[in-house]
Amino acid sequence: MNDIDDVAKRVAARLADAGRLTVLTGAGVSAESGIPTFRDMGGLWRTFDIMQVATPEAFARDPELVHAFYNERREKLPSVHPNAAHRALAELEVAFGERFTLITQNVDDLHERAGSTRAWHMHGELTKIRCTGCHAVITWRTALAITDTCDRCSRPMRPHIVWFGEVPFFMEDVIAEALACEVFMSIGTSGVVYPAAGFVAAAQARGAFTIEVNLEPTTSTFDAQLVGRAAEIMPVLTKRLLALSQVSR
Ligand code: OAD
Repeated sequence: MNDIDDVAKRVAARLADAGRLTVLTGAGVSAESGIPTFRDMGGLWRTFDIMQVATPEAFARDPELVHAFYNERREKLPSVHPNAAHRALAELEVAFGERFTLITQNVDDLHERAGSTRAWHMHGELTKIRCTGCHAVITWRTALAITDTCDRCSRPMRPHIVWFGEVPFFMEDVIAEALACEVFMSIGTSGVVYPAAGFVAAAQARGAFTIEVNLEPTTSTFDAQLVGRAAEIMPVLTKRLLALSQVSR
């Protein structure tokens, strides 16, 4: 485990010469907002079977069950709120502008509600649905039923979520570019789901200084590990980093 002041200094040094900061978030960043993670105690995949609710085959077999799973999660969104980790990441976007990229595996809208304007949802978004025919994507904040069809082509709509067996969004463009960064930070993710699990090695291979923020260390791949709650660590790390950096605020 590393010291937060030391990590902030090393990050500031790497970013000093117009360096890029790329952050990957996972369910742990929203845990303190009351959204369950997937694999921790009480996690979603300890109650639900992935194969029944989160694959294209599951949707083909029992779309009502799949809708019910995502409807329940979508309907809970208004009752949860961004936490200090989401807000710190929004602050980093303002400070570093185009030099900052936020990639999230989360499908909730808490990064946006904290102020992030460019959170790349590689696993999709609960607040959007997509046509199974023409692939049109629209905003949707209520329950989705099998009778809901596309306004354009009348085919059934599905959650705008990347299911197991599907290719995550933005891999070839935004993410490929963002992994060529000076600092890569992974926050609140178990690092077991690919391709996201491979981002740290990809960034490291391009020379990035890599940091993990997690309740517990997940691998020894990272150059630095800050162990604890994201909502406690991120505001402190952000404050220290901004104090050391020449950035607009
Ligand atoms: P996981 O549930 O696999 O991991 C959550 C991680 O967050 C664990 O490593 C925890 O230790 C950590 N954690 C929990 N609370 C925390 C806190 N307050 N502060 C910091 N860390 C905390 O969730 P993900 O890694 O996000 O994909 O899961 C990756 C993907 O697997 C998800 O996007 C989802 C899932 O299946 C799809 O549905 C496609």
